[in-house]
Amino acid sequence: MLIPHSCPSLDKKEIKKVTEVITSGEIAQGKLVKKFEEKIAEFIGAKGGVATSSGTTALHLALLSMGVKKNDEVLLPSYVCTAPLNAINYVGAKPVLCDINDYNYNLSFEETKRKVTKRTKAIIVPHLFGFPAEIDKFLNLGIPIIEDCAQALGAKYKSKMVGGFGNISIFSFYATKMLTCGEGGMLLSNSEKILRIARDLRDYDEKEDYSIRYNYKMTDLQAALGLGQLDKLSFFIRRRKEIVRKYNFAFQKCNFKLPLVSKEIEPVFYRYVVKTKNNLKKYLVSLKKRRIVCRRPIYKPLHQYFQLRGLPNTEKAWATALSIPIYPALRESEIKKIISVILEVFEK
Ligand SMILES: Cc1ncc(COP(=O)(O)O)c(C=O)c1O
Repeated sequence: MLIPHSCPSLDKKEIKKVTEVITSGEIAQGKLVKKFEEKIAEFIGAKGGVATSSGTTALHLALLSMGVKKNDEVLLPSYVCTAPLNAINYVGAKPVLCDINDYNYNLSFEETKRKVTKRTKAIIVPHLFGFPAEIDKFLNLGIPIIEDCAQALGAKYKSKMVGGFGNISIFSFYATKMLTCGEGGMLLSNSEKILRIARDLRDYDEKEDYSIRYNYKMTDLQAALGLGQLDKLSFFIRRRKEIVRKYNFAFQKCNFKLPLVSKEIEPVFYRYVVKTKNNLKKYLVSLKKRRIVCRRPIYKPLHQYFQLRGLPNTEKAWATALSIPIYPALRESEIKKIISVILEVFEK
């Protein structure tokens, strides 16, 4: 049997919650969405939340509610999926791609600082792979920050939940994320003004004036799933950490570098990413042959779509980073199989 790279953990509890919504007859955005917003905001320690149809639409609403528009510049890492880039392009702003650190996969502060201009209106800072970025440094720049916590629900930086630092944070509840609604997202903020604008833009109906608005709503069906998952989040995180301990112990014998954890961060290990020697393609094929799906954790860095150069750490990460399956639904027998296959392919 093939062990997939990602897999959600769903059971009878979620089935029951979703069934209750179906039988209630109120399946669109309603009281469960509100409850889900309150629970996530409380969990992170933010004033309020606006649930959306995806992390991408949460990012779009974040930029709109901050007033980012045509010709403004928004900084983001090149080493991320295309969702943040799309959101910047939706509002007509200019994306400015920055390199990542050489010691982790997060946005480089030095490089970002160098690329700030008078036109910089926001910086998108992802906590990639569930590993917190050095968010306090970015906040000191005095430029509005969007914390992209799509992969990092529950992670902590200097003992505080990520998503509670910036002006705005966003989350994704896609099928493979820390918790899932199938699809879904959320924007959190401590600013009543931001929350009000984002709520207004999320829905087009029954407004007194006309301006462009969106249908970015989450449904109660999705929120029911999310609430069921949220009850299990601490277990999910614990289980991921248990698997990390097993992997770290077994993989000491391998010719790659293990994920680095510093004192200041408590990652949630959304991904278990190791740094291999430059032979990634060969490794991926040989792992698949052995029925384990490992991946490049970022399909393609953004600058490569535009044939840009000058982002050496991003290039290096793309050439060497390998993501090994990690999720709470992994069975013990699957973990054993993954360990034995990884040792077979990578033992020194
Ligand atoms: C860092 C990051 N930001 C944003 C998103 C977008 O989220 P969604 O897929 O829910 O639109 C993702 C999704 O994978 C992501 O990994």
